Amino acid sequence: MKKITIAIDGFSSCGKSTMAKDLAREIGYIYIDSGAMYRAVTLYCIENNLINGEVIDIEKLKNEIDNIHITFKLNEKTGRPDTYLNGKDVESEIRTMEVSSKVSLVSAIDFVRSAMVDEQQAMGREKGIVMDGRDIGTTVFPDAELKIFVTASPEIRAKRRYDELESKGVKANYDEILDNVKQRDYIDQNREVSPLRKADDALLLDNSNLTIAQQKRWLLDEFNRVIELNQ
Ligand code: DC
Repeated sequence: MKKITIAIDGFSSCGKSTMAKDLAREIGYIYIDSGAMYRAVTLYCIENNLINGEVIDIEKLKNEIDNIHITFKLNEKTGRPDTYLNGKDVESEIRTMEVSSKVSLVSAIDFVRSAMVDEQQAMGREKGIVMDGRDIGTTVFPDAELKIFVTASPEIRAKRRYDELESKGVKANYDEILDNVKQRDYIDQNREVSPLRKADDALLLDNSNLTIAQQKRWLLDEFNRVIELNQ
């Protein structure tokens, strides 16, 4: 069967990664979390003192960008790929609050984006890939056969993040989380380079009122429809 490219974009905390990872596993495709790549560059900047508060040493980062190698390796235990930065497993380090609070600064830098997009395009050369992010359907794979743009109301996304933190025993404040969700939406949609927007040919998936099972059914139906069209 001919393989296709699947691009999943959308707002933060929409469950994109979970959905993309499950779909990839179900159909036997490679899954790439492009946000993890921007997070890994951010971690590199923190570890190498290239970020001071909100200020990034752009010249130094430009000189070092070719020394930043990001790869993924399947973790047999979790069944999902872990992120490696220059050969070191950084899957948990890139999910810390420190990285989360700086990553939008780093992902707004034009030469960082072009380096990551080159890597992402190389990973997708053979097709058979599900990639999630913000600019996959618009910039990375504009010719992807299946493009999905995921959204849900800010209130629902904040509630999901609140429940997730509470379930991990982390004290959370719903109003603060809601403000953070709205702020990230604004930054993602208004940055100069590759702002988040729905590609004209992307299917809109508002999962505010969908169960995981309903969403999975919808995704598989769309996948099967596009696969048939492309045989
Ligand atoms: O999906 P995430 O929260 O792990 O993404 C981390 C950050 O990277 C977030 O600020 C958006 C940005 N990002 C991006 O600009 N382009 C992508 N393709 C993926 C993520």
